[in-house]
Amino acid sequence: LEACFTPQRLAGVRVLVTAGPTFEPIDPVRGITNRSSGKMGFAIAQAAQRAGAEVTLVAGPVALPTPWGVHRIDVQSAQDMLEAVLPLAPANAVFIATAAVADWRPATCAEQKIKKDGSGATPTLAFTENPDILATVAALPQAPYCVGFAAESEKLADHAQAKRLRKGIPLIVGNLGPATFGQDDNALLLIDEQGQRELPRAPKTELAQQLIDDIALRLKRP
Ligand code: CTP
Ligand code: CA
Repeated sequence: LEACFTPQRLAGVRVLVTAGPTFEPIDPVRGITNRSSGKMGFAIAQAAQRAGAEVTLVAGPVALPTPWGVHRIDVQSAQDMLEAVLPLAPANAVFIATAAVADWRPATCAEQKIKKDGSGATPTLAFTENPDILATVAALPQAPYCVGFAAESEKLADHAQAKRLRKGIPLIVGNLGPATFGQDDNALLLIDEQGQRELPRAPKTELAQQLIDDIALRLKRP
């Protein structure tokens, strides 16, 4: 019923969303990951679907139900996420990267569980940098309209703006953590070439709808 009252601002538009953390294995039972519940990304996928979009959601490991009417692809690592996203990106008009992608992965993944040897010795991990999914998509010849997220612990506007320019994307959405991680509420700062606009503290579901409305307007008036 709710769909009846939601303006179809993105009718027929294809939207690709990444959400959640990625998980980078150390061995078959261990790994490193980022703090991300996936709530914001899932809310954005749902809001886009309600606005009439055809939504594909590429999700890292999260404990959330699939938003109604959304096509969901589950992945684990950053490399898996890139492999899922890249072939889909050119067919989408919008790419919204909300995922908290692990910046580094263990350089090797042990085939068997690493065992304690009883001496108290600790393993040393070497890391490799993960691919930047958002920057890779933004650099494609048929790049969709790319929206990035920037979770920062300080100097939100400065860091987010620098990130927007570094990744070559038109719009970045900043939020301050870790107080908001896993919560149902958030506050967002939208930063583009023109300047910044704040979406004040509200439930993530409401912010998602406001952001989708904002993106729909941008598509109309590029
Ligand atoms: N992102 C991505 N792939 C990565 C890292 C980040 O797609 N390997 C995306 C995120 O989904 C987000 C944006 O880039 O939309 C910014 O992520 P963030 O971690 O804040 O930026 P980094 O460039 O990784 O910088 P840092 O973590 O050092 O602040
Ligand atoms: Ca990062």
